Amino acid sequence: MALQPRPGIMEIAAYVGGEASIPGVDRVLRLASNENPLGPSPRAMEAYRELADELHRYPDGGATALRESIAEVYGLDASRIVCGAGSDELISLLTRAYAGPGDEVLYSRHGFLMYPISAKGVGARPVAVAERNLCADVDALLEAVNEHTRILFLANPNNPTGSYLPASEVERLQAGLPESVLLVIDAAYAEYVEAADYEAGVRLVENCENVVMTRTFSKIHGLAALRLGWAYCSPAVADVLNRLRGPFNVSAPALAAGVAAIRDQDYVAQCRDSNRKARAAFVEGLKRLNLRAEPSEGNFVLVRFSDAAAAAEHLKKQGVLVRRMDSYGLAQHLRITIGSEADMGRVLTALSSLDQ
Ligand SMILES: Cc1ncc(COP(=O)(O)O)c(C=O)c1O
Repeated sequence: MALQPRPGIMEIAAYVGGEASIPGVDRVLRLASNENPLGPSPRAMEAYRELADELHRYPDGGATALRESIAEVYGLDASRIVCGAGSDELISLLTRAYAGPGDEVLYSRHGFLMYPISAKGVGARPVAVAERNLCADVDALLEAVNEHTRILFLANPNNPTGSYLPASEVERLQAGLPESVLLVIDAAYAEYVEAADYEAGVRLVENCENVVMTRTFSKIHGLAALRLGWAYCSPAVADVLNRLRGPFNVSAPALAAGVAAIRDQDYVAQCRDSNRKARAAFVEGLKRLNLRAEPSEGNFVLVRFSDAAAAAEHLKKQGVLVRRMDSYGLAQHLRITIGSEADMGRVLTALSSLDQ
C-alpha cells in the first residue's frame, strides 16, 4: 500500500504567511504580518548578540530565567508557565494533547487560521462558529458545544478582525463550558489593548483548570524572527505540555532576548503608544477617503473595499504589502498592519489614488 499521512492532514490548506518582498522594488513597506515597525527593544538585540559565542551549547530546556522573568513582570507563578517556539507551537501542542480523531475543535468564524490547521493535523474536526458583527459570539459558541467538543480557541483580541470580548463575556463563556473542554485564550495582542473591561486571561487560568492563556513575543516585543511564545496554564495542563514538548523547543538566543524584552516594559509602553497614535491617525485618514476600518484593539486594522483584490494590487504597485483575507472568509477586506505614522501616511497617499 502507498505511503499515507494520517487522516485530516491532506485536508489542510497550508498556511501562507504575508508577502515580504516585491520583485524590482527596493523600498517595500511590509504591513502584511502584524510585525512591530519599531523592532525589538535594543536590550533584546544586545542579549541576542551576546549569545553568538555560546551557540555550541544547548539551551536551558526548562526556560527557567525566562519563565521567572515573565512571572516577576506580571506577578504570575513561574511553574505554570510553559514556553514554546512561537505561540503557534503551543497551539499545536495543546491540540495534540487534548484532541484527536472524532473530536471537535471550536473557534469563531474569523478566528486565527492556525486553529483549524492544528485540528486537522490531529484528525479532529474544526468547527467554525458564526460571529456577530465580526466579533466572537459567546451564545453561539456555547450552543456549538457537544459531547465531541474538546477544545475551544478564542483569540482575544482576534486576528484579523481586531475585535475583543470583555472579561465578563470570557468568564461567561468559561462558566458555560463543561470541565472536559479546554478553553484556550490566545492573547497574542494583549499588550496593545487599553480597554478597561479587557483581561488577558490570567484571572481565569488561576481559577479554572480547563483554561490556558497563550502569549507571544512576535508582536509588541518585535521578536517574530526568533519564534518565542508562552502559555499560562493550570498545573495539570503545564505538566501535560512539559511531557509533550521537545526538550529544547526554544532556542538559547530566543530565551536570552525574551528575558531582556519582557524586562524592558518602558519599551513595551513606547510601542503601545506609538501604535495607538498611528492607528488613530490612520483610521481618521481612511474616513477622509470614505473607507471604513473595523474597530481594532491590535496593531492592525481590517478595512473593507468594494474590490479588495484590486486595492491590494494598487497598494503593491506602490510598494505597500498588506494581507488579503480570502482565506478568512473576508474576501472584501484587507488587513493592514499599523506601521509608524510616516508609514501609514504613505499608505493613505497610495490609497488616495485608488479608483473605487
Ligand atoms: C491570534 C494569533 N495567535 C497566534 C499567532 C502566532 O504567533 P507566533 O507563533 O509568532 O507566536 C498569531 C500571529 O499572527 C496571531 O495573530
